[in-house]
Amino acid sequence: MSAKRAAWSPDSWSALPIMQVPDYPDPQALKDVEAKLATFPPLLFAGEARDLKKRLAEVAEGRRFLLQGGDCAESFAEHGPDHIRDFLRVFLQMAVVLTYAGGTPVVKVGRLAGQFAKPRSKPTEKIGDVELPSYRGDIINGMEFTEEARTPDPQRMLQAYRQSAATANLIRAFVQGGYADLERVHQWNMNFVAGSPQGHRYEQLANRITESLSFMRSIGITGENTPQLRQTNFFTSHEALLLGYEQALTRLDSTTGEWYATSGHMVWVGDRTRQADHAHIEYVRGIRNPIGLKCGPSLDPDELVQLIDIINPDNEAGRLTLISRFGAGKVGEHLPKMIRAVQREGRKVVWVCDPMHGNTISAESGYKTRPFGRILSEVQDFFAVHRAEGTHPGGIHVEMTGDNVTECTGGATEISDADLSDRYHTHCDPRLNADQSLELAFLVAELMHNERVAKGEIAAMASA
Ligand code: PEP
Ligand code: CO
Repeated sequence: MSAKRAAWSPDSWSALPIMQVPDYPDPQALKDVEAKLATFPPLLFAGEARDLKKRLAEVAEGRRFLLQGGDCAESFAEHGPDHIRDFLRVFLQMAVVLTYAGGTPVVKVGRLAGQFAKPRSKPTEKIGDVELPSYRGDIINGMEFTEEARTPDPQRMLQAYRQSAATANLIRAFVQGGYADLERVHQWNMNFVAGSPQGHRYEQLANRITESLSFMRSIGITGENTPQLRQTNFFTSHEALLLGYEQALTRLDSTTGEWYATSGHMVWVGDRTRQADHAHIEYVRGIRNPIGLKCGPSLDPDELVQLIDIINPDNEAGRLTLISRFGAGKVGEHLPKMIRAVQREGRKVVWVCDPMHGNTISAESGYKTRPFGRILSEVQDFFAVHRAEGTHPGGIHVEMTGDNVTECTGGATEISDADLSDRYHTHCDPRLNADQSLELAFLVAELMHNERVAKGEIAAMASA
């Protein structure tokens, strides 16, 4: 690599070209806030990021599955305890189903406690004759279409930091304090299966989990004597987009002498900011956290290999997760080329499917939506391609909420275009609601089950 690549520092990104930068009217005020943030406590301990990397290394080796999900954009308005709890409940429910079906541990990574900054396709938005800066996420500006709200305000970074700390704290309390108890999570799944119009399809799998739990109970393995049954791991992640904020929270780990982003356990680079010679890639190459890279249809396989060289020159398993997001019907055209390039070069990566970002459409009603059928179809194709290439379909990355919103169409409850206006609350992209998220988990579980049957690991379930 060039000499410029050789020297890295938390601010070396600032000398390079950069996309998606907000236009702050008062650069001094921005500097002051960043300086203040740099004095605040880290949101995590670097050892936790290393722990996540180890788990992801096992995903890369085909021995675990990654479930990554949460809001497209967290917001200051939706920061109630119920929002966090309901998300976690659905997320844990999904994880249990996937753990059972895959016969492997699920690594749980939320898009939360820091997922505030959004890349936008246009820098401004025009309504009638009025043109204002686009909304870029609550950490930057407000969603309301007024000049005041849309003007980037650095003070928002402090609020995002505090909200992230509070969210991470509550999640830690939940996952360690008994909320994640397996029996309870499974009972919620049974309630979902009983109440879903498609529930009969998932009954066999749910009943098998019930049997396993009752067998364990009968031989004396319970939450009281086995912490694994009542506690779980959970990690945070977000897009490292607002680099001034990231830099302020980039800290030297005293145990290893290495730099870590302490804003989230894992950070990823978005599809719009992944240019090899630009600032975002420069920033992530120097931090030791696990890194995600969004891979859209415009990413050429050679360019991908070049990016892997920069981000993971030592070919460390668990360091890099490739999050593919092509759109339904496009996986077959793009994913095999990428997998072959990575295999040819002998690179260790985690392959994850984001079936959301390639499947956004404008509904006739004017709402941005994602049809459930397309989301499912992209995941199915992802599994099929990996089976054909002999590689491990390592996980899914979804935009979801535990709330009963109407943002994506379809699913067993058949949300229609006309329903979208009922409860459309997202601050950015449309999310799967609680039922749609669980339904997706059960359908992915079927795919994982079929994989294991194909490999001869287990017998097929009797057809319903
Ligand atoms: C996102 O994950 O919210 C996002 C903007 O994704 P992408 O960079 O893949 O478009
Ligand atoms: Co999104």
